[in-house]
Amino acid sequence: MDLNQALEQIGKAPTLEHLQALKVQYLGKNGQITQALKSLGQLPPEARRERGQELNTWKKALEEALQTREKELRQEALKAQLERETLDVSLPGYAFPAGGLHLTSLILGELVNLFRRLGFSVVEGPEVESEFFNFDALNMPEWHPARDMQDTFWVDLKPPFTLQGPLGETVNDLGGAVLRTHTSGMQIRYMIQHTPPFRIVVPGRVFRYEQTDASHEAMFYQLEGLVVGPNITMADLKGAIHELARGLFGKEGKARFQPTYFPFVEPGAQFAMWWPERGKWLELGGAGMVHPYLFRAVDDYRARQGLPRVYEGMTGWAFGMGVERLAILRYGIPDIRYFYQNRLSFLRQFR
Ligand code: PHE
Repeated sequence: MDLNQALEQIGKAPTLEHLQALKVQYLGKNGQITQALKSLGQLPPEARRERGQELNTWKKALEEALQTREKELRQEALKAQLERETLDVSLPGYAFPAGGLHLTSLILGELVNLFRRLGFSVVEGPEVESEFFNFDALNMPEWHPARDMQDTFWVDLKPPFTLQGPLGETVNDLGGAVLRTHTSGMQIRYMIQHTPPFRIVVPGRVFRYEQTDASHEAMFYQLEGLVVGPNITMADLKGAIHELARGLFGKEGKARFQPTYFPFVEPGAQFAMWWPERGKWLELGGAGMVHPYLFRAVDDYRARQGLPRVYEGMTGWAFGMGVERLAILRYGIPDIRYFYQNRLSFLRQFR
């Protein structure tokens, strides 16, 4: 075996794998040095000693060379890895789209904030409602013609699904289950649960069995308002709606009321708002003074639940308005179906 050649081989080993193979070749169990050391015993004693020393020197030299080369190779590998993994912080990053609120959410947020400033609380109610809260308690018994204008989707509720009343009670015996046709049912629910005076607005989704076209959708949003207390008058209603008009359309915004009929208000009105920018009236919703029948129905319900009657002699007003309608009029949106088709090119215009 030629030591110098072996050392040179080791010094030039291109990879750790090559190096390992050389180590086995010389120093492994069957390696050349190991074998030579094993066969020392066959030599005559004087030669044995000399040869033994020589082999040990070789062994040490080989071990040192192997170690040195291994260190070098490991360092080279690390350097290569560091170079490979450098990060160019000057490269442009990826843009993460921030998203935005839906047009309906934006308008609802605006409306709700206006009423918050007037001291109203915001409450929400169930979308699957009992016939009693959606119709009967609002002075719309089964035979009432006003029901025809709000025909809806009836829901076949089967256990374990139940309808809950405002006090947490099960109310499956209060007529069928409907997808609510308006948010007005929350007037009843809230009154049963609370003692006046109070001011609330109720944003929410409502459903009607409609033939869908550019101005009709089977699902849309309403904002309901309800104020109850002693000595509330129609002037308070007009004041609040007027304030809303100013909030939405600026200093010159104002409201107009025209008599109309809803079973749950008396007198009843539809209201429009003056849009100074366009110089026209926008029909926005219905309103009126809470019908005494509602107070009686609420007190009756409360009495059945063991609660005191607190609505005798009370007064109040309510309104309900279409949320998409406001957006349609304000932005000149040609088709109500655009709202929930979720085409981004439409929605992005309103972020
Ligand atoms: N609930 C009525 C509707 O959906 C609107 C309304 C609410 C009218 C409150 C008067 C008072 O058409």
